[in-house]
This record gives sequence, C-alpha cells and structure tokens, in this order.
Amino acid sequence: MKNMIKSFASDNNAPVHESVIRAIAKANQGDAIGYGDDIYTLDAEQKFKELFGRDIAVYFVCTGTGANVSVLDHITRSYHAVICSDKAHMHQDECGAPEKYAGCKLLRLPSEDGKVHVDQMRPLMLSLGFPHHAQPKVISITQSTEMGRVYTIKEIEEIAAFANEFDLYLHMDGARLANAAASLKVSLADLTKYAGVDVLSFGGTKNGAMGAEAVVFFNQDLAKEYEYTRKQSMQLLSKMRYVSAQFSALLSNDLWLHNARHANEMAALLADKVKDIMGVEITQQVETNAVFAIVPPEAIEKLKRKYFFYMWDATRNEVRWMTAFNTTEEDIENFVEALKEAL
Ligand SMILES: Cc1ncc(COP(=O)(O)O)c(C=O)c1O
Repeated sequence: MKNMIKSFASDNNAPVHESVIRAIAKANQGDAIGYGDDIYTLDAEQKFKELFGRDIAVYFVCTGTGANVSVLDHITRSYHAVICSDKAHMHQDECGAPEKYAGCKLLRLPSEDGKVHVDQMRPLMLSLGFPHHAQPKVISITQSTEMGRVYTIKEIEEIAAFANEFDLYLHMDGARLANAAASLKVSLADLTKYAGVDVLSFGGTKNGAMGAEAVVFFNQDLAKEYEYTRKQSMQLLSKMRYVSAQFSALLSNDLWLHNARHANEMAALLADKVKDIMGVEITQQVETNAVFAIVPPEAIEKLKRKYFFYMWDATRNEVRWMTAFNTTEEDIENFVEALKEAL
C-alpha cells in the first residue's frame, strides 16, 4: 500500500461524490425488483431521455470496459474490424477483452493526441469486399481522448459522414464525455447524437460515481436485443437500483457538468502553474482534466515519494497528471511546490 498525500494519477482514484452516496443511501430502502425493473432505474432512464431525447435506448452497466466490449460484441460479427487509435483504451488497457469477447480485430491508427482522422481511415476501406481481410465495420473514438484532447462537433460529424459513406457504425467511448462537453461548452446530445454517433459508452465513474456506466444507443436498430448481449457480457447487475440511483444523482442539477468543469479547471490551473518551470515541458494541449508533461527522471522519482501519479511514456520521461471533481486549488499549490522542490 502506498502512503500517499494525494493522487494525481487518475480520476478513478477520486472518491464518490457525496450526492451520489446520498442517492445510493436513499435507494437503500426496502425491497425493489432486481435487474432494473425498479423505480430508480426508471427515473435514471427518464433523466437520460431528458438529456438525449426520447428516441434513445439506454442500458446501465458496471464498468467502462464492459460497456465497450459488450457494444462491440453486439454490433460486430467475428470477421469485422474496429478502427480505433493506437492510444485507445480498448486497445491498450482492456487486456485484450475486445478481441476475446467481441472476437474481432482492432485496426489501430497512429495518433499523438488520441484522435483518428478520416484521411487515415480511407485506405482501410480498400479491404471492403475482399474476403482475405477483416471487414471494417465500426469506428470507435474516445471523447475526451486518452491524451485529454477533445474532438470538436465538426470533427465528429466528419467521421460520422465517413462512417455513413462506407456503412460503418460510429461508437464513442465516452468514459470522460462529461469533461469534453464541459470543455467545449456544448450539450451532451450535440456532442453525440446530433453529431452522428450511433452508440455511446457513457461514463459515470470518473465523474463521481462508483461503478456506474451506461450504453446509450442513438441508432435504435442497433439496440435490438442488446439486453441479451448485456446479460451474456456479465454486465446485468441484479441490484441495479444502486447503479441507476447514481445516474439519477449525476444527471440532477447538472452535477455531471459541475464535476467535469471543476476537474478541467483544476487541470488548467496546474498546467498554468507548471508551464514556465524550467525542466518541465507540457506535451499536450490541456483541454480537459489531464496534464501530460516531460519532467527530469530524478524529479519524477522525488515527487513520487509524496504523490501518486503515472509515468505515461518512460522512453521520454513523460508523466500524466490527472485531476478530478475533488481536486482543490490547495492540492495544486502543494503539488507545484513539491515539484519545484524536486527539481
Ligand atoms: C477512455 C477510457 N475508456 C474506458 C475505460 C474503462 O473503464 P473501466 O476501468 O471501468 O473498465 C477507461 C478507464 O480508465 C478509460 O480511461
């Protein structure tokens, strides 16, 4: 066990927001029918429909990996391929689960900022109709990306138009969709449904929940029979009310937005305070709640004695510092002081 003052490693290390805890406690009364046939799940579904419109199908799951993998499993056949960036969580951090459970090939495109672009994907379309090649069927984009960057609505629309041209589906891994929406100051629906996304993995956990993720289908044809895939994917929780109640809390009074905005602001503050420190080089534009920086290795070692954070790319001493809804300005001040001392 690490004895740490404060984690700048991931928003996964943040606690659960107290409104979410209160909502869980409120749901913890008496009996409720299992597997989602309860008033809490109905309420959370309603809240999703208020945000995205009535013509969606939403399903709650427990992990982001489960959301991604079950979606891919549902919308592909074994000879299909999924196009994603080489930074994609589904490629780097899901232990091969998409390959194992969805059983399809991931076609990774090189990317510095975690985004994929239409001009990179066009050559892959030459495989269509050629039986020796896995057939591209899905484009999966991550919003915000693993490098803390955001796709603009226009960029998503371009990818969606391309997907449409070649009869591909557009999946969005929105584990940090809230941070992207807060950064761009646009609605969740504009950034997804109206930009042409077919199916979304909607993240709650990094935004203040504790194991609450959702799969949202905007393309309702694709949603057909997903409930069976969810069960086969081991993502149908029996005591569903405790997941649903978390979403009701996050989606009430714009809590999702306040949390994401605050996390983003803290990352911006951190970047602002470290950007002129000699020896520190910020490597990605800070658009959401992550700061990537190259720091001398001796300083990283010293700082790690006090703070927990990840080395991102050891080949060039690049670290990732991530903020969350509970990061305070004081946390940032202290961290920057410790960094200066370490240097
Ligand atoms: C971009 C992205 N997608 C998906 C996930 C999956 O989350 P989980 O750990 O809940 O499976 C994560 C988790 O860090 C993530 O960063």
